[in-house]
Amino acid sequence: MIDKNLLKKYNLPLPRYTSYPPATFFHEEFTAGDYIKAVEESNHEKPEAISLYLHIPFCTQLCFYCGCTTHISRNNTLYEDYINALIKEIELIAGHIDLSRPVTQIHWGGGTPNALNMDQVERIMNAIYKHFKTDAHTEIAMECNPAYLTVEYIDRLLKTGFNRISLGIQDFDKKILLAVNREPSAMPISQIINQLRTGGASVNLDFIYGLPYQTPESFTKSIEQAIEVRPDRIVTFSYAHVPWVKNHQKTLEKNGIPGPDEKMKMFESGRKAMLDAGYIPIGMDHFALPEDQLSVALKNRTLHRNFQGYCTRETTGQVYAFGMSAISQLHNAYAQNTKNIPKYIEAVNNGKAPIEKGYRTDETDVTVREVINEIMCNNRLNWMEVASRINKTVNELKTITGFDPDRLTPLAEDELVTFDQDEINVTPKGRFLIRNIAALFDPKLKTAKKQFSKTI
Ligand SMILES: C[S@@+](CC[C@H](N)C(=O)[O-])C[C@H]1O[C@@H](n2cnc3c(N)ncnc32)[C@H](O)[C@@H]1O
Ligand code: SF4
Repeated sequence: MIDKNLLKKYNLPLPRYTSYPPATFFHEEFTAGDYIKAVEESNHEKPEAISLYLHIPFCTQLCFYCGCTTHISRNNTLYEDYINALIKEIELIAGHIDLSRPVTQIHWGGGTPNALNMDQVERIMNAIYKHFKTDAHTEIAMECNPAYLTVEYIDRLLKTGFNRISLGIQDFDKKILLAVNREPSAMPISQIINQLRTGGASVNLDFIYGLPYQTPESFTKSIEQAIEVRPDRIVTFSYAHVPWVKNHQKTLEKNGIPGPDEKMKMFESGRKAMLDAGYIPIGMDHFALPEDQLSVALKNRTLHRNFQGYCTRETTGQVYAFGMSAISQLHNAYAQNTKNIPKYIEAVNNGKAPIEKGYRTDETDVTVREVINEIMCNNRLNWMEVASRINKTVNELKTITGFDPDRLTPLAEDELVTFDQDEINVTPKGRFLIRNIAALFDPKLKTAKKQFSKTI
């Protein structure tokens, strides 16, 4: 348990480090032409594997806490125009990718991908299957809102090749869901999980702590309900309150939002319930069954991470992203598509990559990214191990990351890390404050312009 004073001391606005550098460094001088060049170069860079990300921005109702990039609409004409553009974008970019490279992951995120009907989902998947090389090991995942799932829909998802389904539960308590304007699941979760499991898919459940009316007791009750149905993974997100970006989140302020120490209690009691039930903690907020590939990767220290969440070194690919706002994550660049749906459709229809901004990574970025990923994923940094992986010396690595042991000492005194000259290890307490630890290896943090959400 972290005490209140420590919480106060370290609850700072810091990047989440889902990318390095953080998305706040992306800029508009990076053009569609730069992206196409980066895609062509990526064919000769590592990792060789391809990850595909598809963004479906539509939701039929706005959850007031939502921090995702969504567009509230039930307009099927708009859906169709978007899907046609998405398929065109897939064809356009596939023309620049070496299609003999293996596809290890296909991830559908949103918004609510299952706001589309299954005919629409199948059309998009067929466009992917037509161009890209997938096999039985390809992980094909979709983030689903359980309010819109039916037996028939799940059946068709399985038949189309989906083998990993993430369900946004957020909380089982109907009063809490009502307060955040969210419908509960249409089918009992146990029935959804049974059907998915029988069809060979694995299941992840998402929860959020820090919503109005949640208490440590109520949140733990929700987590206990989740444990009962034994999903492969459970994710507990700390509610990110960023009303300066997401104006609708202000609505939640009128009912009172739990403070950081209350949130920490929710997280800790939920976490304890999951650990007692045998789940393995992965990074800050993921929990997986011991036999899940993430738990195995953590044990073997081959855990990795991208914008879509955790993955293993085997499944890690360079990410080619499609759809409005989607972010590609290549070895040498990040590129983000426009967030404006009409502009997105227009650019693609004109045969142009719909890039709004991006960032060309240099050697420093690639090095820092490796170090920060290692700490965030594997809770440890062995300088020699990482240095040899990227053909650098330990001294070069320390210089590039601006490593200063004097800045680590106070964290060691607070028992967040232990370290010597060869290795840094994050303590169980330090895992709660992993962003604060990662920030010590981020030479760009001083020049970051924008606001980040607080670490807790
Ligand atoms: C794109 S949504 C998942 C799919 C679907 N739209 C749904 O809500 O079920 C991804 C996840 O992000 C999380 N999330 C959304 N807004 C958040 C916020 N403001 N803070 C923390 N987590 C958030 C939720 O747990 C959600 O399940
Ligand atoms: S359904 Fe998911 S993406 Fe849509 S508003 Fe709710 S949380 Fe956001």
